[in-house]
Amino acid sequence: MDRILINGGTPLEGVIHIGGAKNAALPLMAASLLTGETLELSNLPHLVDISTMARLLAKLGVEVGMNANAPGGHAGRTFALTAKTVTHTTAPYELVRRMRASVLVLGPLLARSHRARVSLPGGCAIGTRPIDLHLKALAQLGADIKLSEGYVEAAAPGGLKGAHIVFPMVSVGGTENLLMAAVLAKGKTVLANAAREPEVSDLARCLSAMGASIEGIGTDTLRIKGVEGLHGANYAVIPDRIETGTYAAAAAITDGQLELRGARPELIGTVAETLTEAGVEISETPRGLGVARRQGTLKGIDVMTEPFPGFPTDMQAQIMSLAAVAEGASMITESIFENRFMHVPELCRMGANINVHGASAIVRGVPGLAGAQVMATDLRASVSLVLAGLAAKGETVINRVYHLDRGYERLEEKLSACGAKIQRIKG
Ligand code: UD1
Repeated sequence: MDRILINGGTPLEGVIHIGGAKNAALPLMAASLLTGETLELSNLPHLVDISTMARLLAKLGVEVGMNANAPGGHAGRTFALTAKTVTHTTAPYELVRRMRASVLVLGPLLARSHRARVSLPGGCAIGTRPIDLHLKALAQLGADIKLSEGYVEAAAPGGLKGAHIVFPMVSVGGTENLLMAAVLAKGKTVLANAAREPEVSDLARCLSAMGASIEGIGTDTLRIKGVEGLHGANYAVIPDRIETGTYAAAAAITDGQLELRGARPELIGTVAETLTEAGVEISETPRGLGVARRQGTLKGIDVMTEPFPGFPTDMQAQIMSLAAVAEGASMITESIFENRFMHVPELCRMGANINVHGASAIVRGVPGLAGAQVMATDLRASVSLVLAGLAAKGETVINRVYHLDRGYERLEEKLSACGAKIQRIKG
């Protein structure tokens, strides 16, 4: 298994290109199942999860045409996805277990083919992560749902019918699945307490470009009028706000200065506010955002993860690395996932002073971290260790790099181009 080796202590200087958002790209790819015409998606990141979704769609009968757009470059890939006929309606365990977002084919398969069989994702490192909200809401649209041998078996022989759905809690994937199901359902659907994440709005905009009728995009109430059919479209994926926040934290933790090209300020509101509070200056540049520390030291911060527009749970681990070397104490509360502090013991092995009490972590800043052998079991936890390694004295070795490859495109290349001493060790 590959490892990442970092010799910390070098301030990062230079330009980093922000890629397309993984979490926007995955539902957009699934939306291709809704039409027999071609959906052309551009600015897709080069990531393992994107290839996994492409493999799943190909299994279902989608023709996946990729152009060789700037291989290894920063322009992003373009996929032409054509689901002339949906030949299979099963998302097998082997793919769903690799990537939970595979469940996003459930809504579109039900809408287009009136049936779907999708493996239950099961638990994952950051919590139990059920899909009960997706299933209950799809049942409200008239789907008959059974669980059998680890699979969800859903059928709506006469097609789905619009309904008024109130989500009991905010779910990004649940909102996306229901949005894709409702666009072809008969009549009107209201999705109340819908997720407002920019990735949800991106999907809603793409569906609108394909002929769907959706009102309330960007709000917590989405009103959908079902249409007979959708057509093809060309759509560019929004830049990745979590990649943006992660590299902003990298500039701050190394006391460097980065320009994040392609980053959009409106996507990182709360993260930018938190970084500003910590003593980081974020400024708009003609092509993105500039990030540097305002003065010498970082300051402790209080953060609670919340659905958008609150502080994203996908930035919680990275902000904790920053807090670990900030002056004073920080309080970081995780309100979305019940088990998302796996990075804490690893950061402590690097010299951080962190105590977890239930859903909150108290981080007492230390003057510096020291390199160590570390390992993490999810994507954002892994990258928080990269950040800590970039700031630490000495050598850090990060094991289980495949998590990073699921969400960060050419991480070590992007960082080393800005002066980081980071390399991948194959094996
Ligand atoms: C998406 C993101 C993930 C991010 C998360 C929260 C993708 C591919 N992934 O995940 O990176 O961390 O949003 O911003 O976009 N829940 C239930 N029942 C359900 C669905 C969710 O109890 O049926 C719970 C979850 O366990 C969690 C909370 O609701 O505690 C939010 O989860 P959700 O917003 O659905 O996350 P995902 O869509 O899986």
